[in-house]
Amino acid sequence: MPNVEEILFPRKKERAEERRRERTHRDVLDEVFDRSTLLAVSRLVSRGFLSEVDYSISTGKEANVFRATSRAGFRALKIYRISNATFRNLPPYALEDLRREVGGGSFGRIIFAWARREFMALKACHKEGVPVPAPIVQHRNLLLMEFLGREGLPSPPLHRVVLEDPRETFRQVCEASRAMVDRVGLVHGDLSPYNVLFHEGHPYLIDLGQTISRDHPQARELLERDAAHFARYFARWGIPADVPGTFRAMGGDRIP
Ligand SMILES: Nc1ncnc2c1ncn2[C@@H]1O[C@H](COP(=O)(O)OP(=O)(O)O)[C@@H](O)[C@H]1O
Ligand SMILES: [Mg+2]
Repeated sequence: MPNVEEILFPRKKERAEERRRERTHRDVLDEVFDRSTLLAVSRLVSRGFLSEVDYSISTGKEANVFRATSRAGFRALKIYRISNATFRNLPPYALEDLRREVGGGSFGRIIFAWARREFMALKACHKEGVPVPAPIVQHRNLLLMEFLGREGLPSPPLHRVVLEDPRETFRQVCEASRAMVDRVGLVHGDLSPYNVLFHEGHPYLIDLGQTISRDHPQARELLERDAAHFARYFARWGIPADVPGTFRAMGGDRIP
């Protein structure tokens, strides 16, 4: 219940709210932008890839995503956090691969390899016409990509959208995953309605840091798990999707 002062001086309350928001924003900034990350960002600025980091779109367990501005328009900047805690959520198969790639070394280098892995996966998918944000550049723990949004606001993840044509969206999600397996030879590894953005009426796959080769011994199991996510999700929209059928439609039949 507002107190008398708030009723008499509403602008004062507004300012307090503003201050609170500013403080939260600053906390996010302090946490994400350690010295080495700041240097990495300024490197991208001096190379002309972006001019400003605007605001935080998402604070995840391993990474933060910001909207950024460049001369050519908005960008999405994903910053992998450089900390030991970042590994805790990395699935063992991915960590194994990354360790092999960097040949041991500090966790900083493993995290750079992780950002690079997502960048390379985006590149391969984008080239083959799989709907993903176009990758722009990766530098250390930073990944700069196309901003999927409208009028400056990020497009929502699938789980927050009221679908107009769930059957068609289901078909498109399956098709996107299938194209990834078939044409690129990759399994996403962490596909769920949280990692699909609904952009201009179509699903886009994001968060490709855990992709693995379709030849990997765990590829089948991961795709089965993700097929189950979508079968459950689309069942709620009245689409009778069974898990084996969804698995096949998502490219499961192309896994050796
Ligand atoms: N290219 C992009 N354009 C707009 N928003 C994005 C983009 N990439 C990520 N996001 C937003 O950031 C969130 C987290 O991104 P994601 O790659 O899934 O990172 P995390 O590893 O933290 O899950 C997404 O759910 C989405 O809201
Ligand atoms: Mg995600």
